[in-house]
Amino acid sequence: MNRLLSDHGFTLADNPGSAGAQDYGPEQAAVLNAEGLRAARAEISSWPDYAPTPLISLPGLARAAGIADLYYKDEGGRFGLGSFKPLGGAYAVMRVIGAEIQRITGKHITSTDLLARRHADIVAGITVCAATDGNHGRSVAWGARMFGCRCVIYLNEAVTPGREAAIAAYGAEIRRVPGSFDDAVRAASDTAVTEGWHVVPDTAAGGNIGASGDVMQGYALLADEAVAQLPPATRPSHLFVQAGVGGLAAAVCGQFWQAFGADRPVTVTVEPTNADCWNRSFSAGAPVVVTGDIDSLMAGLSCGEISPISWPVLKVGAHASMTIPDQAAADTMRLLADADTGDRPVVGGESGVAGLAGFLLASQDTDARARLGLDETSIVVVVGSEGDTDPDTYREIVGRSGDQVRADAKSWGRA
Ligand SMILES: Cc1ncc(COP(=O)(O)O)c(C=O)c1O
Repeated sequence: MNRLLSDHGFTLADNPGSAGAQDYGPEQAAVLNAEGLRAARAEISSWPDYAPTPLISLPGLARAAGIADLYYKDEGGRFGLGSFKPLGGAYAVMRVIGAEIQRITGKHITSTDLLARRHADIVAGITVCAATDGNHGRSVAWGARMFGCRCVIYLNEAVTPGREAAIAAYGAEIRRVPGSFDDAVRAASDTAVTEGWHVVPDTAAGGNIGASGDVMQGYALLADEAVAQLPPATRPSHLFVQAGVGGLAAAVCGQFWQAFGADRPVTVTVEPTNADCWNRSFSAGAPVVVTGDIDSLMAGLSCGEISPISWPVLKVGAHASMTIPDQAAADTMRLLADADTGDRPVVGGESGVAGLAGFLLASQDTDARARLGLDETSIVVVVGSEGDTDPDTYREIVGRSGDQVRADAKSWGRA
């Protein structure tokens, strides 16, 4: 077994509530289902520049990690926003506007109607708002601009200026809030109530269910694409997905579960060491809030509170949970960019590589391999949920810009 990452401490815990080999049930289908996916796919695939993101095979890394195949769903190119997030935030903006137009006119509208600026007068009077670590706000602001409504984005103190600038570039008004991401979530929902705005959260924390179900259903499209992109008759054995509030992990877990039934992959959530709300919730058998310093290099995963609508899916859908330190994410970003194992170089951002980092740490640990059933026949899928969404941080960590790595990737194999 090769050692791909330095020996950073990680934890691996079984989820005592895991349903193991059960079928996808009504409790899960109430959150994510085939009809919801069909609706999300119909809308999102009609947006300008929609294309499935690539599912990249990394045979060199797979060999080095002692498994059969490793697939990386690379969300770095999604709609030019650098992450998977527009699938959720912008789709939920579309649904909010659609519901408002239906309420006022009684008419059902589609993205195509909005892009043609039908009902532009009503849309211009709508304000959507959201709290964000960066990527979600960017996707809500992008959706608001695409469909023509106003947008206000709440950022907590730790969000970098690079991420703020990326959101402001889509014309959103930015408001800074002292404290953590969870404080920004509360500020956004409180203001939405007083101002009559529509909050578009990526978490249902604080009872804020609203649009967060649409956000998750939109995310499920990436998992649906990935299932279709696997080579014919391929059954993945393992899925490692990073969790912040858990929307992404629940959507991916739920979609693979619906696609593969009881024979679905062993599903492992991956979180930063100090923002391990899923790890703690699994072991308590109920949602647990993590307080104190939850900041992490993996900014999108720095969450202390799970999203309650993800719970019905992950409480039984996740087989195990891992926590990993920031250095493991940084090492994995370099590993993907340098591609010393002979694979095509890939640009993966801090939160984006966390699932892969978790898998690599588990793959080089004899006990973790045995507990998860990882061996030379395993077929592992990970979600590369972002590229260089914060270009300065990316360059600092990797030593080269994302553009340079992308240029290396283009010339790869042409030697
Ligand atoms: C790049 C990236 N990956 C993963 C996540 C985690 O998603 P969730 O909060 O839905 O668990 C986020 C959240 O912002 C993110 O930005």
